Amino acid sequence: MDRERIEELHRRRQAVTEGGGTERIERQHSQGKFTARERLAMLFDEGSFREIGAFVNSRAQDFGLAGRDVPADAVVTGYGRVDGKLVYAFSQDFTTMGGSLGEMHAQKICRAMDLALQNGCPFVGINDSGGARIQEGVDALNGYGEIFRRNTKASGIIPQISVIAGPCAGGASYSPALTDLVLMVEGSARMFITGPQVIKAVTGEEVDDQFLGGATAHARKSGVAHMVYPDEQSLFGELRWLLGLLPANNRETPPRVDPLEPSADAAELIDIMPEMPNKGYNVEEVIERIVDEGSFIGIHPEFASNAVVGLARLEGRTVGIVANQPRFLAGCLDIDSSDKIARHVRFCDAFNIPILTLVDTPGYLPGIGQEHGGIIRHGAKVLYAYAEADVPKISIVLRKAYGGAYLAMCSRSLGADVSLAWPTAEIAVMGPEGACNIVFRREISEADDPERVRQEKIDEYREKFANPYVAAARGFIDDVIDPVDTRSEVLSALESLERKLPDTGDRTERRHGNIPM
Ligand code: HXC
Repeated sequence: MDRERIEELHRRRQAVTEGGGTERIERQHSQGKFTARERLAMLFDEGSFREIGAFVNSRAQDFGLAGRDVPADAVVTGYGRVDGKLVYAFSQDFTTMGGSLGEMHAQKICRAMDLALQNGCPFVGINDSGGARIQEGVDALNGYGEIFRRNTKASGIIPQISVIAGPCAGGASYSPALTDLVLMVEGSARMFITGPQVIKAVTGEEVDDQFLGGATAHARKSGVAHMVYPDEQSLFGELRWLLGLLPANNRETPPRVDPLEPSADAAELIDIMPEMPNKGYNVEEVIERIVDEGSFIGIHPEFASNAVVGLARLEGRTVGIVANQPRFLAGCLDIDSSDKIARHVRFCDAFNIPILTLVDTPGYLPGIGQEHGGIIRHGAKVLYAYAEADVPKISIVLRKAYGGAYLAMCSRSLGADVSLAWPTAEIAVMGPEGACNIVFRREISEADDPERVRQEKIDEYREKFANPYVAAARGFIDDVIDPVDTRSEVLSALESLERKLPDTGDRTERRHGNIPM
């Protein structure tokens, strides 16, 4: 064999591996960023990554690109193992033409996505790019369109996770937005449709790119980012763990691991719930006492904090958690928390993850802003998502469950398979104060001592309706349980639903995208 040919292969491969060259790699590192290949090494089990299309290069001719070497066309694509599970990925190489997306760059991503979908494997996209490669014009735009279409077709079939580790601007941000989870790195990641300069030109507003589209902005305000990490190492560490919670695709169930006991004592559940019905508490302390030790991972933890959603393990099984958070806005449902809950329910439903819902909500947030912002439209997403979901659904009313919010939060009427309540539950059309002010308005205002009569009526209403037993008498609640037994009750419920079939009766027919309408 001609040895020179083999040497040429190694030389060429080495050149591709060096991307934009030492100087640009050093610049990348000096900004606290890793290179495309270093990131893949952090994501995958050691030595398991196989690159596809390493020798692909740009074939653009205009604006100085003719004959220009663009190693790997600025994106590394391929597959590897994450704790043994096959995962496909792309990782944009900012050191080569700013990771910009041209025709061949997009083709490589599309091929990896097609292979992931055909083989039923999760897909991870690592974004660090100046966006559409300006020199390639409409070919670059077409490339984005091809990716968006594939994101949408794969939605609900394979888990898709986006990492934002640098700029992700313009229409480019729509690909991550079409995926299930968006993970951002603080400091280096930024996403926006129009950047600071365009905003200044059009609206006159002055803003820097971090305030506009940094990780904090998207984690707290826009809700675009599901999770935020201080650095890339911690991001990839948690991403590996997250992938371990998920099935490879919508026909499989999530993997089961060795169970762990909860980290805190269930007896403390009684003390967590305040005696005063209007006092807040941290529902995450309740979750901690139900799920396997250290297994709860919050999704969207800083966005719409009046709701908590996430994933956890229960006796080693993956379970989706949805809860009202009485510590913020008394746990009421509003526009943002509705979007947050609906999206999570659809995600869990797509990937065969049973949903545990913990209810403590006084209702929907009143206000002109909420009404004009479309609380009806957004709130409807929660109803739609729960009613459509055919994974096992278990709900527990911890305290308040009033009105439409009672129905929305996985009530029996919307299809809860097992609906439980703590003895502290209050299930009614509305809270005692509000109800008495309406129903007994005249009686109260005409009384000699209106305040005394009002209090009497409130006490009477509370006695009659603010408990779980009226709903239990109708069969809307299957059982009222001692809080100490919550974990064992949930485990029994999960076991009883282990073989639950979807409404179609056919698991292979299941396909729900993750975007709620
Ligand atoms: C071609 C690009 C590029 C792009 C960056 N580069 N973005 N080349 N097309 N979109 C190149 C630069 O020319 C430079 O090349 C190298 O990448 C590194 O860029 P720098 O500017 O030196 O880096 P930095 O200072 O870190 O700034 C990064 C940046 C900036 C903020 C991303 O480069 C930038 O603003 N780029 C343009 C962003 C943009 O407007 N993209 C189009 C968005 S519209 P050299 O050879 O000098 O090192 C879009 C539409 C998608 O994406 C629509 C989908 C539907």
